[in-house]
Amino acid sequence: MDILVINGPNLGMLGVREPEIYGHTTLGDIVVALRSHARTWQQPPTVRHLQTDSVSRCIARLAQRDFAALIINPGAWTHYCYAIRDALAALDVPIVEVHISKVDQREAFRQINVIREVVTHTISGQGWRGYLEALDFLETQLAS
Ligand code: DQA
Repeated sequence: MDILVINGPNLGMLGVREPEIYGHTTLGDIVVALRSHARTWQQPPTVRHLQTDSVSRCIARLAQRDFAALIINPGAWTHYCYAIRDALAALDVPIVEVHISKVDQREAFRQINVIREVVTHTISGQGWRGYLEALDFLETQLAS
């Protein structure tokens, strides 16, 4: 079983990008941690990862529909991108939206979320460990 993890714009810079907000953990570290966490499942899934700054690349990847569940940090797309929202709405697998920071308690523009209504679950403000929490949520979700 494949779990797809997508990280949107600027998330390739984790570790060096505003560390006071996003921490010092790099995206590479997060993917390693996700893969090792996935190995604790009774039937370990394969974790596939894409980081892209391109809406078009993200939509094309989602359209492949070759995954059992999705974890996505849409970055700034969260706040305005209806094209990503539509691509997510077209899926029929569980989707967890992850935000490292507490988006609801930051600037006004970050409190707008055009994605939330079309995802299964949202995790925000748990730092990079929110990704592991997303995997835990999916383990329960896919077992039921
Ligand atoms: C983010 C929050 C977004 O507002 C921001 O544009 C990001 C990262 C987060 O993980 O906290 O790029 O999604």
